[in-house]
Amino acid sequence: MHRRIIAPGVLAAASLLLAIPASAASYSPGAPGIGDPYYPYYGNGGYDVSHYDLRLRYQPKTDELQGTATILAKTTQDLSSFDLDFLLDVSEVRVNGAKAAFTHSQQHELVITPKTPLAKGTPVTVVVRYSGVPSTKSAYGFNTWHRTPDGAVAADEPEAAWWWFPSNDHPSDKATYDVSVAVPDGTQAISNGTLQSTASQRGWTRYSWRQNKPQATYLSTLAIGKFDITTSTSEGGVPVVNAYSKDLGDNDGAARASVERTGEIVDWLSDYFGPYPFSSAGGYVPNTTTGYALETQSRVYYSPKQFAKGSNVSVVVHELAHQWYGDDVSLKKWKDIWLNEGFATYAQWLWSEHEGEGTTQELADYVYASHPADDPFWTVEPGDPGADKQFDDAVYDRGALAIQALRKEVGDDAFFAILKGWPKEHAYGNASVADFQRYAEKVSGKPLAALFGTWLFQPSKPAASAGRAASLVKAGTAVAQPKSWKKIEAAHGGHSDGAAR
Ligand code: ARG
Ligand code: ZN
Repeated sequence: MHRRIIAPGVLAAASLLLAIPASAASYSPGAPGIGDPYYPYYGNGGYDVSHYDLRLRYQPKTDELQGTATILAKTTQDLSSFDLDFLLDVSEVRVNGAKAAFTHSQQHELVITPKTPLAKGTPVTVVVRYSGVPSTKSAYGFNTWHRTPDGAVAADEPEAAWWWFPSNDHPSDKATYDVSVAVPDGTQAISNGTLQSTASQRGWTRYSWRQNKPQATYLSTLAIGKFDITTSTSEGGVPVVNAYSKDLGDNDGAARASVERTGEIVDWLSDYFGPYPFSSAGGYVPNTTTGYALETQSRVYYSPKQFAKGSNVSVVVHELAHQWYGDDVSLKKWKDIWLNEGFATYAQWLWSEHEGEGTTQELADYVYASHPADDPFWTVEPGDPGADKQFDDAVYDRGALAIQALRKEVGDDAFFAILKGWPKEHAYGNASVADFQRYAEKVSGKPLAALFGTWLFQPSKPAASAGRAASLVKAGTAVAQPKSWKKIEAAHGGHSDGAAR
């Protein structure tokens, strides 16, 4: 085999031909995960995305999705290759205009090797052409593309993007979006932000949506189906776009009677959290069978089940509160989930008090008293619950209790200053629980390590003495269930009614 013997001179000539820079040794593959211990393969290393342009076509009859994604990014290291998170079938990838090699690996990695390695700190344009039937694609044994009788929905946490666009799928890499979807005439496509245009041609209508503020990948949503779309403007001037599936049946009235309150609730929440952070608000109710709602940015996803027992404004308050706590200020790592769920639940407590259905203090007393010390509820640390307990009741209820304890500790003036100041402090960015503690200490002038330790990180029920300091009732004392309780609980991820992914 003559190929085995290669003279050193030939090797040298070959590497010259490849024109790899002198520092080629520093070029390495980007990591297949962004470094989140809860989800080691979510997100990717080596680059940062600033914009996703998604040009799609979807056929409800067959569940076929076709698309071209144009991704604007900047490298954060010298890259020989990099990953996107994606499950559909890819036909072509271009990096800075040149065709790139690609392969699927692990559960949901698309590994891209550009013709020329990419130097750190340079802008990169990646074009991915793809197609596929999302309902046939799984990772880790699950699929969260929701088929409906007349279309489909992408909305889940912590992941949903893999089924409809290639991305750096982690909330720490936020980007703006243009999402343009062609669907058969008579069908609508709903996404985040504002509807820029609709155009019909040869039996297909194209809906073009724009999200002009940074958005986490899991907060990007797509719904295709036959919807009634309502538009209005809140008293405070926020444009509202809502959409209801035309086949909600008996849930139709209750869904509209809840979600049509969006403008009023956005204005009410603005008094606590500051100006609404996005150019549009609203929600949509498709005919899905899941149990949860999701705070998809500026266009909340509601399952019809949220309204099966009648109207539920409390869940609307929860999801709209996330627009500030979760969407505007997003978590740094998934362990920081308390910054989302604790505050969205606390907003429901404030609404309960506003509606005369139980004060925040009565709700805190009820949570404290209704879980005995040996209840596993207290073993969950809302400040770092673990991936399998990320949406546990304790993250929501013990999480909101911790916020009431903070309020008692710092007093109402400092507390409400913190509540309103936080979204401004980290507008359109990311933050951690530790960042929140530091901020609350700065605003209140009080050391809070012990308080946060007890209420967010102690794997057992805080002692009655700590409870009394927070003016919570003693363990074991019977406390009546506040009127608002059942609706507040209904906003939790749907795990209590058995509707998982
Ligand atoms: N963040 C959502 C909410 O509290 C919960 C989503 C739960 N996710 C799930 N797959 N069940 O509104
Ligand atoms: Zn929530």
